[in-house]
Amino acid sequence: MDRQAFEALRAKPEPVILAIESSCDETSAAVVAGRTVKSLAISSQIEIHRRFGGVVPEVASRNHTLAVNDVTEQALKEANLGFFDLDAVAVTYGAGLAGALLVGVTYAKTVAMALDIPLIAVDHIKGHVAANYLHSDLTPPFVCLIVSGGHTVLCEVRDYDDFRLLGTTLDDAAGEAFDKVARCLGLPYPGGPEIDRLAREGKPSFALPRMLKQEHDLNFSYSGLKTAVINLLHTAQQRGEEVNKADLCASFQAAALDVLVEKSMQACRRTGLKKLAVAGGVSANSYLREHLRAAAAKAGVRLFIPPALYCTDNAAMIGAEAGCLLAKGQGLADETLTAQPSLRLRFGENT
Ligand code: KG4
Ligand code: ZN
Repeated sequence: MDRQAFEALRAKPEPVILAIESSCDETSAAVVAGRTVKSLAISSQIEIHRRFGGVVPEVASRNHTLAVNDVTEQALKEANLGFFDLDAVAVTYGAGLAGALLVGVTYAKTVAMALDIPLIAVDHIKGHVAANYLHSDLTPPFVCLIVSGGHTVLCEVRDYDDFRLLGTTLDDAAGEAFDKVARCLGLPYPGGPEIDRLAREGKPSFALPRMLKQEHDLNFSYSGLKTAVINLLHTAQQRGEEVNKADLCASFQAAALDVLVEKSMQACRRTGLKKLAVAGGVSANSYLREHLRAAAAKAGVRLFIPPALYCTDNAAMIGAEAGCLLAKGQGLADETLTAQPSLRLRFGENT
């Protein structure tokens, strides 16, 4: 598909995009038109990887191969559309597991070539941010808190393709800390949702450090908090004491998430922006959602958090970002597109 045809598609008000996501352990396909999700199909591999305590890359790619065509057909059927109704195909090309990404990229390339329609390459993290555009009227500029398995970032989204970094984690990502703490507590994979669930039954009775809370910058740190939990568990073990897991989950969650809430509000004050969006898997957390809602309401900030289904990995968010790219005349890829496992979010000047 040449550039000219791609440019012609930009004039179409709500192009119909088939989006594919396979960066980690969810195989997903969606049909998105503008900001509307016409359908979303997700085949989760959680049960498959649970017995290993985490995602096994080789197992993930094999299962993506098995599922990708089925989820696509399911998404098309749900949207009441056929392949020939599609205007473009979008796919996550990074960051993620190399073999897993390659399955989606190869599948999307094949569909685009067979139908002779544009292929749009999408950065997974930008997809998480774009989940906030689905069924909403959010437009830049806004402050965005990105909290996933690999990112803990506060940024100013000045335009759809223009991000300014405000703060980031100096060590582990928030989601990574959730997963590691859950593992230490013997909770099943994935740890984040397990801690969220268990914390609701407990009280935040353990004193844990709130890392970088006193700092005036907007950076985060999670390795100290993780170590504090590990030390607490070791001490209890040595003393032969039983630790109340629900209380420890509630304490960890408050320590990990209160800082995110405070610094997000601080970012809004500093930038003077009155819109805050939240992106990434950790934004599915019930404590974070509840506390951000309360803090935003108090500060007169309009809060955007996608429904939980659009917070964790899904193809609808990839379709949303592809729509933004297409509108800007960006993202057109060809048969040379390949996976970029270490793709990093790029920030604009004046960061
Ligand atoms: O955005 P995501 O689905 O994948 C990446 O792009 O990294 O985020 C996955 C992370 C995992 O660390 C997972 O434990 C965490 O999001 N997560 C949660 C919750 N749901 C997913 N963390 C806390 N509470 C949750 N409810
Ligand atoms: Zn993700």
